[in-house]
Amino acid sequence: MPKLINHKLNYAPIEWDDNGAPRSTQFDDPYFCAENGMLESQYVFCGGNELKRRWQGLSESQAGTFTIGETGFGSGLNFLCTWLLWQEWAPKSWTLQYVSIDQFPLNKEDLDKILRLWPELNKYADLLVGQYSKLINQNEHISFDQGKIKLSLITKHVVLALDDMRKENYGVDAWYLDGFAPAKNPEMWSDDVFAKMAPLSKAGTTVSTYTSTGFVRRGLIKNRFETVRAPGFGRKRHMLKGKYCL
Ligand SMILES: C[S@@+](CC[C@H](N)C(=O)[O-])C[C@H]1O[C@@H](n2cnc3c(N)ncnc32)[C@H](O)[C@@H]1O
Repeated sequence: MPKLINHKLNYAPIEWDDNGAPRSTQFDDPYFCAENGMLESQYVFCGGNELKRRWQGLSESQAGTFTIGETGFGSGLNFLCTWLLWQEWAPKSWTLQYVSIDQFPLNKEDLDKILRLWPELNKYADLLVGQYSKLINQNEHISFDQGKIKLSLITKHVVLALDDMRKENYGVDAWYLDGFAPAKNPEMWSDDVFAKMAPLSKAGTTVSTYTSTGFVRRGLIKNRFETVRAPGFGRKRHMLKGKYCL
């Protein structure tokens, strides 16, 4: 039986900019870069965690689960981009477990409208939108593709959500850090967040994010994520990518 979440959802207040892209009025920041959110997601998160190479290397002959942890689900764009790549490169015997966190989920209409910015995602967006109410109202995963893709969304403050992940014994293979800009949304990039990511990680767990802000890099390094600056997407000079070291 689904466990009902016992707190009220705080839906995200958004507005649409002149290019038809969503912007948080709460954090005064866009959900993704103005150039092309889908290409940014593929570059920063899928590319930054080297998912294609890692998935090509998984053994066909055994079943396993690859787990992604994300701070900031937003529109689910990162999830859909990851699903697309998974379908192309991961062995059919493996399961993708995608665990995301968002204290201020979008309402269903806004999420739907955002994802229609990329017609190539329509087929996947339909499936996500179809189960979105269940995803945000019940503290249980939803699944796609005969259970081979599992998605959970924890609608709590990031620090409390990471505690929940610990209680559920998740072992994360790749982290996507996608809060709003660190200067505008510091709670998503606190030392507490990085310290709580560490016990959910193992040797070789990777992390990537679009920002290269100094205190984010220092916080990751302090918590055993060996982190380097890499060329950023679009107008960003740098992004961060790293690996957890025991
Ligand atoms: C840049 S958006 C994420 C974009 C998203 N990955 C996408 O594909 O659309 C950042 C997200 O972090 C969430 N957020 C901000 N502060 C938070 C907090 N303290 N705890 C949990 N989530 C938070 C916001 O609600 C927002 O959806």
